[in-house]
Amino acid sequence: MQNLDWANLPFGYMKTNYNVRCYYRNGKWGELEVSSSEYVSIHIAATGLHYGQEAFEGLKAFKGKDGKVRVFRWQENAKRLQNSSKGIMMAEVPDELFKKAMDLVIKLNADFIPPYESGASLYIRPLLYGSGAQVGVKPANEYTLIMFVTPVGPYFKEGFKPVNMLITRDFDRAAPLGTGSIKVGGNYAASLRSIDKAHQLNFSNVLFLDAREKKYIDECGPANFFAIKGDTYITPESKSILPSITNMSLLELAKDLGLRVERRPVLETELGDFDEVGACGTAAVISPIREIVDMENNKQYQYCKDGNAGKVSTILYHKLRAIQYGDESDTHNWVTVIEI
Ligand code: PLP
Ligand code: COI
Repeated sequence: MQNLDWANLPFGYMKTNYNVRCYYRNGKWGELEVSSSEYVSIHIAATGLHYGQEAFEGLKAFKGKDGKVRVFRWQENAKRLQNSSKGIMMAEVPDELFKKAMDLVIKLNADFIPPYESGASLYIRPLLYGSGAQVGVKPANEYTLIMFVTPVGPYFKEGFKPVNMLITRDFDRAAPLGTGSIKVGGNYAASLRSIDKAHQLNFSNVLFLDAREKKYIDECGPANFFAIKGDTYITPESKSILPSITNMSLLELAKDLGLRVERRPVLETELGDFDEVGACGTAAVISPIREIVDMENNKQYQYCKDGNAGKVSTILYHKLRAIQYGDESDTHNWVTVIEI
């Protein structure tokens, strides 16, 4: 076990023991390789560098009170990586290879899995890119899969404390028929200037509106948006948001709690009607939102008036975490125990 300040880990990169790699050449995947280097050697004409033929995933492993290590819904991440591959014409990573690489990278870095009491987790980052050379705009013939891990704390430094979000119309994250619904690096590059603007104005992140009409709520920084109104869990439906595995799980948990659920276009003008709002994702878990400011329209929406997360968000947060850490029974079959 590493000697780290587990309870105060940021959401950031830390060198671990090993990463794993696999190469797709001549139409097939090769054998998994283990590396202790943090670097790759890459062809100067690789499509991943020039034409953004690159996708990634993010999932977490949790150490339970019983000492077992659980991964949350890895099959959904494998499926989403396959969808990302389809979207930008990369070779697909089969489930079996994804699982084998994930098991191995966790096992090789078992020392870095945060202890149960810390509330931290091991973030697993699968990365896939076109490593074959092209100069014309076309898919590569070779692909590289890398999986590395890093122990992490909460994405927003506030943890479960409410954050503020900025609405700005200066930049779009993704076009309506673009790549917003797959997890490719270009979406994140396109979001950097708006996130920087938000940070400069002392906001935690950006609440993106739909690119076409600027009327509907889209993505919430590196997370999905959800709202609670009375006994209803509401989350946007849009072609340009990433289908969040956390969000799809919260929808199920909300139903278990007897809430109604709505996945539909959500107008910005509805923000004033919601009792609770938040961002949800693997990194963000649930980040309650206390304020949303729409600069151009000079509007402010406020929540969490007592400074704390709302009641329903709090219940959902604890339910989700309890399943992930193995404190509650996994009635939906979402967790996989990894043999270390
Ligand atoms: N939206 C974006 C843009 C993201 O980067 C993420 C993170 O993966 C999410 C939503 C949340 O998805 P998930 O819950 O699957 O992590
Ligand atoms: C995640 O929640 O896993 C993400 O991928 C967010 C990331 C962009 C920091």
